[in-house]
Amino acid sequence: MTNSQHTGHSRIVFALDVADVHAARHLVTLLAGHVGMFKIGLELFIKAGPAVIETVRELSGAKIFLDLKLHDIPTTVRRSMRQIAELGVDYATAHCSGGAEMLAAAVAAGGPAVSVLGVTVLTSVTPDSATDLNALVLERAALAQTAGCAGVICSAWEVAAIKRQCGKSFVSITPGIRPPGYRAGNDEDQGRVMTPARAVAQGADYLVVGRPIRDAADPAAMADAIAADIVATAGAMSPPG
Ligand code: C5P
Repeated sequence: MTNSQHTGHSRIVFALDVADVHAARHLVTLLAGHVGMFKIGLELFIKAGPAVIETVRELSGAKIFLDLKLHDIPTTVRRSMRQIAELGVDYATAHCSGGAEMLAAAVAAGGPAVSVLGVTVLTSVTPDSATDLNALVLERAALAQTAGCAGVICSAWEVAAIKRQCGKSFVSITPGIRPPGYRAGNDEDQGRVMTPARAVAQGADYLVVGRPIRDAADPAAMADAIAADIVATAGAMSPPG
């Protein structure tokens, strides 16, 4: 693997959206070294339980992002995030729509080890005439930053404005990534999508990619192609910290 390819790979967060630990083990083994981080979401966490985190870490040596998208009263979120911190994950999420006090509770309970990310507006939501999505995302990003979050989850369409408002070190992680030529399946639900290279060019630090890699005939080759696309179009950039 060349250095520039490595720069591309390190930005890919693979969404381990599978229903059981066997499928998870298979994909992690295939993708170790081809992506920078593994994201464990509700489906796998509910089915396999917290032990799956250690499994993924041991098999890959990669960073772990636990995407449970907490949204509850501040006390419940604080107590839940305390439990998440004990699992030793690197990133965890809470919905910005839960408000400033809830986000601050998540950040306090996450402590120094867990970087808490605020989910601004889901990438499946598309603009309608009644809502100014951009303004809402920026408002929620400001809320997350004030509460002490390390960054936000947003669509690639909002990254540049968030970076201008919150500064470059405020982490932006973008789902809704679709490689050039990707043919979506019947389960497609992403609305605000962008290609990997364009998302990085907009300033995204990490790209969440699920189905395009999971459902590829050769998942590792797809991850490599995405990494190459990032590097070729966006130029060699320093890997995110
Ligand atoms: O690439 P794909 O659409 O399959 O990836 C979707 C993943 O990104 C899912 O795990 C989903 O939970 C996550 N996600 C999202 N939009 C957000 C936050 C997370 O799609 N705003």
